[in-house]
Amino acid sequence: MIAPAASRASDSPARTEAWAAALAPALTVGDVIILRGPLGAGKTCFVIGLARGLVAPARVRSPSFGLIHELHGRLLLVHVDLYRLAEREAAGLGLDELLERGVLAVEWGEKLPPALRADALEIEFAIRGAATRELTARAHGVRGQALLAAWQALDGAQAGP
Ligand SMILES: Nc1ncnc2c1ncn2[C@@H]1O[C@H](COP(=O)(O)OP(=O)(O)OP(=O)(O)O)[C@@H](O)[C@H]1O
Ligand SMILES: [Mg+2]
Repeated sequence: MIAPAASRASDSPARTEAWAAALAPALTVGDVIILRGPLGAGKTCFVIGLARGLVAPARVRSPSFGLIHELHGRLLLVHVDLYRLAEREAAGLGLDELLERGVLAVEWGEKLPPALRADALEIEFAIRGAATRELTARAHGVRGQALLAAWQALDGAQAGP
């Protein structure tokens, strides 16, 4: 089920990180964040912000070095990039088991198996200019609705760079 969308503008990578960091306190074990949008749209940048918001000490690396990164903060943040995978390959990664231990933030998350997309917050990134991005959140399922409400409740001051 797809609920109404809620868009936010970002005028810098720092702002994108800050929106994500502001959302992080709302996250709990079992949450799925689907990140979608073209190459260079800011999906990894958003994960860096989530990690900061969860006080993860590890550095979020470029996704090309691996498929799955575990970042330990207040919660385990599992950073996944499905760019190079086919949808059926994504089903074999054991992500459902990781989800029992932490939060999944998945670039190219539209390739997740349907069961993992059923209850999730989706953030779609659109490139509007060299440094401007539009981040549109949509809810999938009941938990997605709760996270969308948290996203809608963020105010600009929380995302100040
Ligand atoms: N407002 C913005 N928010 C995020 N990134 C921005 C913004 N403005 C410019 N950028 C730049 O866009 C790029 C975003 O890179 P990032 O790796 O986060 O994209 P991505 O969506 O993960 O791409 P990929 O699909 O290749 O993994 C960076 O070079 C960043 O500096
Ligand atoms: Mg990326």
